[in-house]
Amino acid sequence: MAISETAGQTAKWAGASPGNDDEEIIPRDIRFGIVSNPKRHWYGGDPIKTLLADGLSVFLPEGERYFIRSLKHYAPKLKDKHLAAEITGYSVQEAFHTREHEDYNKAMVKLGYDIPMMEKRVADALAVGKNPLHRLAVTCAIEHLTATLSTVTLRYPELFDGAEPAYRRLWMWHALEELEHKAVALDVLKAATPKMSRVERYLLRVMAMNATIIPFLFIFLRNVKEFTRVDGIKTGPRFWLRFLYTVTISPGFWGRCAPLFFKYYLPGFSPVNKDDHALVLKGRDWLYKEFTALDAASAPAAAE
Ligand SMILES: [Fe+2]
Ligand SMILES: [Fe+2]
Repeated sequence: MAISETAGQTAKWAGASPGNDDEEIIPRDIRFGIVSNPKRHWYGGDPIKTLLADGLSVFLPEGERYFIRSLKHYAPKLKDKHLAAEITGYSVQEAFHTREHEDYNKAMVKLGYDIPMMEKRVADALAVGKNPLHRLAVTCAIEHLTATLSTVTLRYPELFDGAEPAYRRLWMWHALEELEHKAVALDVLKAATPKMSRVERYLLRVMAMNATIIPFLFIFLRNVKEFTRVDGIKTGPRFWLRFLYTVTISPGFWGRCAPLFFKYYLPGFSPVNKDDHALVLKGRDWLYKEFTALDAASAPAAAE
């Protein structure tokens, strides 16, 4: 395990291990220092690509606290020690993600975006359901969304060409860890509903997905208006055509996600049906090489 602080960038990392670890879920305490160095249109100078990523970060601190609470509610009730350990690993990963996305969102506040207003929309939407089982099913749905986005990110890391390195590192790290823990929430759902038939469990998870994806898109698109307002971009037909082109064709973030996303609606869907071992190793290698190079680059400055 290595810990380093990079001069001038306040990036700090611990435990970005090479791709030969045996553990399935590895929490990595990495600080990306985004709050101390916010960048407008960090994604290659492209406001739409930037807001697509920034708009996602708006959901994360609230969302990830919700996921941790949803799973921890069931942890003491489960007799499965392996699953209990997975919930612990999951929760630690999500807690580090929360911390870094809180910093990311504070960086956006510094750039003038009304993030508290956007985050309130997320918090209000998550507060609607009170039933622990429904909250767990919503967590499963969102974990599928994050695993889908993460698969695309790790398959095509070149999507981040031209992006500011600190932001690229954060999204690659988050994608890797989402893929490492992609199965935990659904495993907990299965363990928490031993008396439920397969049909009932299928209906629960797909209804939870419908109840999640529709408000998510609605809030996301409302938040786009806030980003563009601050950026001074008019949201007329030209803007929305370019937005649509970016998400579906080039680079087509959402278009690439669509085939993976809809697999959730298959009755036999399970995250483990898709073997992501090679992709996880690829992400671990990427992170290790990135931070090793960062360490080497900062070594002379640190030695002074
Ligand atoms: Fe996360
Ligand atoms: Fe997650």
